[in-house]
Amino acid sequence: MSDDRNFTIRLADAPTFGCRAGESVLAAMQRHGIGGLVLGCRSGGCGVCRVHVQAGCYRLGPVGRNHLSEQDQENGFALACRLFPEADLEIVAAPYSKTARTNQQ
Ligand code: FES
Repeated sequence: MSDDRNFTIRLADAPTFGCRAGESVLAAMQRHGIGGLVLGCRSGGCGVCRVHVQAGCYRLGPVGRNHLSEQDQENGFALACRLFPEADLEIVAAPYSKTARTNQQ
């Protein structure tokens, strides 16, 4: 049985776009030709696509913990290439920073 859900993603300072069930937010941005996040490894390993989820439900795929600590994750940060919506999302770009680095264990 296919999952044909399509979610609305609102990224601050970018046009609203759709993301298919099972598609990462970063992949959906690429598919729609939307900028606003840096493209890197696309596999959760570099951290350049870091965002903060302001609203909505989602699941995360595997990520490198040196770019997204468990504490960051609990506080709503995510990597867009590993961010899979389960509902409409509101997100803002949250590039990796010294603040995030201090949250690592
Ligand atoms: S593009 Fe490298 S972690 Fe997302």
